[in-house]
Amino acid sequence: ARVVVLISGHGSNLQAILDAARSGRLEGLVEVVGVVSNRKRAYGLERARNYDVPTDIFTLAAYREQGKTREDYDAALAERIRSQYRPDLIVLAGWMHILSPAFLDAFANQVINLHPALPGQFDGAHAIDRAYEASRRGEIDHTGVMVHYVIPAVDQGAPIVTRTVPIYPTDTVDTLEERIHSVEHDLLIDGIIRYLNHRKSGPFELSA
Ligand code: GRF
Repeated sequence: ARVVVLISGHGSNLQAILDAARSGRLEGLVEVVGVVSNRKRAYGLERARNYDVPTDIFTLAAYREQGKTREDYDAALAERIRSQYRPDLIVLAGWMHILSPAFLDAFANQVINLHPALPGQFDGAHAIDRAYEASRRGEIDHTGVMVHYVIPAVDQGAPIVTRTVPIYPTDTVDTLEERIHSVEHDLLIDGIIRYLNHRKSGPFELSA
């Protein structure tokens, strides 16, 4: 499958995909055909170049300067990705821009996201910090990670795969974050494999 990865930053999850595609669980299943960043200085761009994967930088600011809207940006981004890469699947891996229907309608059921929380908990930004705070208040003793379909409501699309991550009394926010990230790097690959298996069995249906 032709996969495009969208990033905004560090790109450790992109690295997990690149490694798995080259010589791991995605070998022979996935070709990363492009990496698109909405931030010029995203370190993940470097990771893509190291693997000879084509990169694109596509910033909202450049559109705003021309007096264009967010929807214009989303539509142009979709068109760029469609014409340049013809992807089967688009993976959001640390992509910090909320995609509107102007983008999502162009790729129905073809966009998946990784989020460091369980379904229905801690949607949106700072999910790890908020889970940590809740654990310190004694409200929870675990959080989790999920891979899910992307819909306009942030982090609320149907889950594809989830995994629970314990929060220990001895944790700091940093140790929790580290534990979550190492789960993410593995679960994202599970999510992609599940997505591709599901796809083979016929046209997509969203399981509520
Ligand atoms: C991850 O925690 C991901 O779940 C969240 O942003 C972070 C990205 O990390 N949406 P990286 O850029 O892949 O290292």
